Amino acid sequence: MSVVEEIKQRLDIVEVIGEYVPLQKAGRHFKGLCPFHTEKTPSFIVFPESQSWHCFGACSTGGDLFTFIMRRENMDFAEALRFLAQRAGVQLTPLDEAEREQRDELDRLREINRIAAEFYHHILMRSPQGEPGLCYLERRGVARQTMATFQLGYAPSEWHTLDHYLRQQGVSQEDALKAGLLSESEQGTVYDRFRGRVLFPIRDPQGRVIGFGGRVLDDSLPKYLNTPQTPLFDKGSVLYGIDLAREAIRESGTAVIVEGYMDVIIPYQCGVRNLVACMGTALTEAHMDMLKRITKTLVLALDPDAAGMAAVEKGVATAQEGLERRVVPVPTPQGLIRYEERLNAEIRILTLPEGLDPDELVLQDRERWDRLVAEALPVADHFFERARREIDVSTAKGKREAAERLLPILAAMTSAVERSHHLQRLAGWLRVDERSLWEELRRLGGSRAKPSSGEARPPTASGGQAVGRALASSADPGRRLEEHLLSLLLGQPALLRELVDDYGLRGEVFGHVENRQIFEQLLRHLESQKELDITEVPRAFDSELRAHVESLLHGLEAGPSLPPDLVREDIIKCATRLQKQYLGRLLRELRYLQQSAQEEGSAERVRELNETIERLRRDYREIDRRFYAATLLGRTKRGFQY
Ligand code: UTP
Ligand code: MN
Repeated sequence: MSVVEEIKQRLDIVEVIGEYVPLQKAGRHFKGLCPFHTEKTPSFIVFPESQSWHCFGACSTGGDLFTFIMRRENMDFAEALRFLAQRAGVQLTPLDEAEREQRDELDRLREINRIAAEFYHHILMRSPQGEPGLCYLERRGVARQTMATFQLGYAPSEWHTLDHYLRQQGVSQEDALKAGLLSESEQGTVYDRFRGRVLFPIRDPQGRVIGFGGRVLDDSLPKYLNTPQTPLFDKGSVLYGIDLAREAIRESGTAVIVEGYMDVIIPYQCGVRNLVACMGTALTEAHMDMLKRITKTLVLALDPDAAGMAAVEKGVATAQEGLERRVVPVPTPQGLIRYEERLNAEIRILTLPEGLDPDELVLQDRERWDRLVAEALPVADHFFERARREIDVSTAKGKREAAERLLPILAAMTSAVERSHHLQRLAGWLRVDERSLWEELRRLGGSRAKPSSGEARPPTASGGQAVGRALASSADPGRRLEEHLLSLLLGQPALLRELVDDYGLRGEVFGHVENRQIFEQLLRHLESQKELDITEVPRAFDSELRAHVESLLHGLEAGPSLPPDLVREDIIKCATRLQKQYLGRLLRELRYLQQSAQEEGSAERVRELNETIERLRRDYREIDRRFYAATLLGRTKRGFQY
């Protein structure tokens, strides 16, 4: 039995989830208000028998105890594993030497950051040395209470203030250097990195300080100095304010992404609390991943151009600051559309009035801010609007420019319906024939949604491919199917895209958290790298998952070799079967729920459940349809070949 299973056996899902959500018994199940979105009637159900949960409301997602904790506590899989293992009293296999050292180092660096944050905060609030910082912050409208909430600090214009203090506290200079709090000159002199700056401690989602941003009090440069890249701090994946914004994001259902520290702090003080800052860097997938665990609606309140070229220029400017920056993908409009579809999220763009930052705006006119958030436009609409404002399409040249700007956005959409909607709009606006736009679109590679029947993506395998046998060790047939599919996918990772794009495969159909993690990490890996070298496979996963991945790979090696075509068909069959089983399970549970609603005599509820059941039935039929289409296509294709 794996530790995950052992933990699940020892803990009762109803009891653990019950601590976060008041649960009521409803027949064989428990129901409550979904903790992941705002609702008035409970659509969050916990199933004791299968030890799983599902939200039939806005989230329409579910999982097991682990996925619940990961979402609710904002933890990754490894963290949730430790958290629940401790609670269940299950001993985790000790880490190997290297991993333990790494873990210890991170703990030490966090501790140093904590000490420094407290120290700098103390100086700001209680020491005469903090006077300049205090004056500056008060001039910007920050209240004392807010300074305390964000634990703002001040670093005096001296070279060894922190250095001396840390030494007193028994912190080694080596660690303080590693934490990015001290710097070392070429002559080997060690000194405080932050001097004469107001400090903003930056926290991880669990509220632990991992770095700092420091602002000068005047116009000197650089305006902000940040903690450099450290084992703890990676600017490209940090969202400033996430720890404080989480609840408000959940409640409002929306996360607004702004650029700067002040843009989070001042609105917070005014009661606008669903804000996080990407700290002036380009938005990355890591940012979005973090947010998508809490909400599905993201509003970007960035400088109109920050989402595009300006962020690149800024990247160059900050690089000169000595930051070791990773190259981050800049979300172009196309990129945003793809994120949206892959994350199953909605991204809207808020246009800030010329020359006003969110902090100034909220201070001046709170209602105007609320209005701007409410009026933020979906990505495609935003760029349409902008083109409308900027391009005169009465001339042939203008028409071409508009088409060149907007068609790539349409090409990125995978929904044929949406694309067609926008294409009609564009044709209407430009007064050109729709067919000529389709023509252009196809040239741009936007034909993806209109696949001609023979054009199935070629599998990557070189000739024969080993086929995984169901892992003999797991008795549970549902689990066996999941693992069979995964082991096939590990051998043919390129097919994953197709499963996700064309067959709508999603992580939640994997009932076992380890399998779901492997699926999601594999997907992420593909997104970032495209190619996955089979010999590298185990290392692409969190160390906690590696043993499981190895056993899946073992299953893969044990099987007979089959031609790639058959493997592909097998993969599609498995994926659709898995989806059908998942939906079937949900439908069964829903009928029970409906029964108990009927017994309680709540007609409203019965009707609601009916709608959900109808929706799931439609999904089920759709999957069935795709399944037959796929296998049929496979067969005719082989018919031609052989
Ligand atoms: P801005 O230049 O827009 O600053 O950079 P701001 O947040 O409006 O600051 P104030 O209002 O003038 O005090 C936005 C964000 O980009 C990062 C910081 O995180 C900043 O909050 N940044 C900016 C840097 O890291 N370094 C810089 O030199 C400038
Ligand atoms: Mn500003």
